[in-house]
Amino acid sequence: MDQEKPKLYLIAAIDQKGGIGLGGKLPWHLKADMEFFRRTTICHEDAQRRNMVIMGRKTWESIPESQRPLKGRKNVILTGNKDFKAEGAYVAHSLKDAMELADDRIASIFVMGGAKVYQQAISLKGIKGIYLTQVKKAFRCDAFFPKPPKFPKKELLGKGEEAGVPYEFWLYSKPASVRKLPREGQAQGARPNRSRSDRKEGSAGARPKKKR
Ligand SMILES: NC(=O)c1ccc[n+]([C@@H]2O[C@H](COP(=O)([O-])OP(=O)(O)OC[C@H]3O[C@@H](n4cnc5c(N)ncnc54)[C@H](OP(=O)(O)O)[C@@H]3O)[C@@H](O)[C@H]2O)c1
Repeated sequence: MDQEKPKLYLIAAIDQKGGIGLGGKLPWHLKADMEFFRRTTICHEDAQRRNMVIMGRKTWESIPESQRPLKGRKNVILTGNKDFKAEGAYVAHSLKDAMELADDRIASIFVMGGAKVYQQAISLKGIKGIYLTQVKKAFRCDAFFPKPPKFPKKELLGKGEEAGVPYEFWLYSKPASVRKLPREGQAQGARPNRSRSDRKEGSAGARPKKKR
């Protein structure tokens, strides 16, 4: 049987103004979010497969040397530098080439930033969902998450507070399959009974009104 194609996700933590970074680093230190990121990007249902993470060169460099490559995941770094090498990680020179490194042993692909990479990935047709940590404060930031498309489903996966900083873990996604309604004049079966939360329009992340 053919292996299922890898599922594509974005994963990010954003503050109240869509900020994600400052000076090449995260503007906050939230252990719970680090753990959420680790768990989400490592976990998969098929023991024969693993997940892949795609990141920009600057995000790679923001990870402490002792912690990279990220364990248990295939690490792919995007750079324009043809001589760039990173031990234990793959290097790609376009987002398309990076995605093509996902062979049939990859369960899910997680685009994990930074701003420049999210900007390119956000408009990809095949995105299944966005894991978004909403940091419920405004931080000084110089890197931002792009305006996301609308996702029909919005699930709260968890919430908490650390050092006075409240946060929420959300998954914005598309339903697994979209049921086609019968065309007019065709036999009517039972109507799909969609839950309230399925009907609610989810837009991933509060956007600032001001131009950045
Ligand atoms: N809050 C979050 O969830 C989160 C997640 C990740 C990162 N961050 C933050 O985001 C900030 C970094 O974001 P950033 O936008 O400055 O950098 P970035 O996206 O991490 O990396 C940008 C670099 O990636 C390479 N690149 C990107 N797209 C490429 C393409 N299509 N082809 C070839 N190379 C490509 C280029 O590398 P070269 O210059 O080598 O050519 C580019 O300069 C940091 O502050 C980091 O902490 C936050």
